[in-house]
Amino acid sequence: CGIVGYVGSGEPSARAEGVVMGGLERLEYRGYDSAGIAVVVPGSPVLAMAKKAGKLTNLAKLLAETPLPHGTAAIGHTRWATHGSPTDANAHPHLAAGGRIAIIHNGIIENYAPLRAELLASGVQFLSDTDTEVAGHLLARYVDGGLSLVDAMRAVARRLEGAFTLLAIDANEPHVVVGTRRNSPLVIGIGDGENFLGSDVVAFIEYTKTALELGQDEVVEITPEGVSITDLGGSPVAREPFTVTWDASAAQKGGFASFMDKEIHDQPSAVADTLRGRLDERGKLKLDEGIIAETVLGAVDKIIVVACGTAFYAGMVAKYAIEHWTRIPVEVELAHEFRYRDPVLSVRTLVVAFSQSGETMDTIMAVRHAQQQGAPVVAIINVQGSTIAREADAVLYTRAGPEIAVASTKAFLAQIAASYLLGIYLAELRGNKFPDEIAALLAELNEMPAKIQLVLDTSEPVRELAHSMVNERTVLFLGRHIGYPVALEGALKLKELAYIHAEGFAAGELKHGPIALIEPGQPVFIVLPSPRGKEVLHSKVISNIQEVRARGARTFVIAEEGDTEAAHYADHLFTVPQTPTLLMPLLTVVPLQIFALELASAKGFDVDQPRNLAKSVTVE
Ligand code: G6P
Repeated sequence: CGIVGYVGSGEPSARAEGVVMGGLERLEYRGYDSAGIAVVVPGSPVLAMAKKAGKLTNLAKLLAETPLPHGTAAIGHTRWATHGSPTDANAHPHLAAGGRIAIIHNGIIENYAPLRAELLASGVQFLSDTDTEVAGHLLARYVDGGLSLVDAMRAVARRLEGAFTLLAIDANEPHVVVGTRRNSPLVIGIGDGENFLGSDVVAFIEYTKTALELGQDEVVEITPEGVSITDLGGSPVAREPFTVTWDASAAQKGGFASFMDKEIHDQPSAVADTLRGRLDERGKLKLDEGIIAETVLGAVDKIIVVACGTAFYAGMVAKYAIEHWTRIPVEVELAHEFRYRDPVLSVRTLVVAFSQSGETMDTIMAVRHAQQQGAPVVAIINVQGSTIAREADAVLYTRAGPEIAVASTKAFLAQIAASYLLGIYLAELRGNKFPDEIAALLAELNEMPAKIQLVLDTSEPVRELAHSMVNERTVLFLGRHIGYPVALEGALKLKELAYIHAEGFAAGELKHGPIALIEPGQPVFIVLPSPRGKEVLHSKVISNIQEVRARGARTFVIAEEGDTEAAHYADHLFTVPQTPTLLMPLLTVVPLQIFALELASAKGFDVDQPRNLAKSVTVE
């Protein structure tokens, strides 16, 4: 879910509502099952509120027909449903104390059932099926008992179990918004005569770039004049602000039809920015935050990458490179599987968490589990100040800029680039066994932005192809070696965006089962290794292509320029510039992203906000 809070000048103004609606628009990628807003109207004993099931445009329409009165403070929410279906009633905010108090929530309150029973027994009436409403009524009870809103919020947080970001307003305190968090994000934006709260900084970067993180189990009160943070015991917490490096315009579409299209086109700069100025002349990596002693890193005997979704596939790509350069065994594991499997970890295991948002709950839990076992954690993260960035021992930021489209694209490329830097650094630290290869690769890495641009500039045939395939029911993707995770990512993009059944397979595995799926006409994408690389792999994948063609498949081959053989086996051939094998994924995934984007657009789907998904899944 996405959360925004605003408090401004003592005068009621349209700005409170405008800031919150603008923030929700930029946070809508976090969930779009419903949206709502509540404002404090000074002089009124109750809050004004509007909420609506469905996307934010539904709420905007409602507000256009029936505008809210101007207020001094406001909170807004865009929901990804967990408890309770996506209806108007279950939309946030939830009111309590007869409409005097409103609350919004991201996360899951695990002990909501006993709390609900307790409140029902004391005569409280519930209007929704959400776990959130429990927190609202509890808050109201403490306020009715004489506590200020902020003290009441502290008391509520102490009673809740699970994950939550909560924001609340009270008609009796018109110049205050309070918030708290546990295992769910909240950042504070510092303005001039106004202050902001948001699930992440894009909620308010239009207005301020000075931000503060709210720590675990802390409570914040914002007023027009200031921000005060306390722990759950009420003791003040001092926190240094940080400056957001993103530009407000980066969170806008910039002339593209969708955020996703824009973000695909951002990829050359996402990779260039991620690489820029990272290594000193000795190849030593500058981590952005935190340190892990070189003695610790030098002693690492196993690396485990933990991640979910697209970030997991970036981790799979990284394995091929890092294991090769460092000779350290690398495992890649889905964070939610890793966490509950009793993995073997020690102080010599380096855990590397990949996450665009830094807020994926499954990955957060994996990081914590690793740290509890004494393993050092490096995080490769895109969002500054996010939970994983804060909790990891060291952070290497990808500098992809805000990724708004729910399906990840530029973060994938930036994660690969960042992880390669980490791999090269670890290799150097342990006495580089491939100095020439690594030096050449570093030089090549710097060529990648221009090559990605070339792939984008020549993508028209992929777009045309996509339009001819709107009626496909299933599409298969094959890859081998480092092309295998690319095939998996290509299939994921198609599932996410176009709702077409798609599967990625290791090309070598085909004959062990999936080949049974091939029927005449079946579309199969193949990511073909370079004929200049390990030549055996090229010819082996060519054999796999022949195997599916022999059974009637239509083949769509992504090959390297100058691969003279590929054309003989491809019904459609797409080429990418020549590149060392380990860097190929940065190019070969791009046509697959564009294919999925274009096919979904041709089917009339919302490519930025595919059904049922959310960008940061902040629940386990
Ligand atoms: C969600 C998104 C995916 C994303 C995954 C991991 O499921 O829909 O696009 O890859 O989370 O997100 P992260 O922010 O941890 O990279």
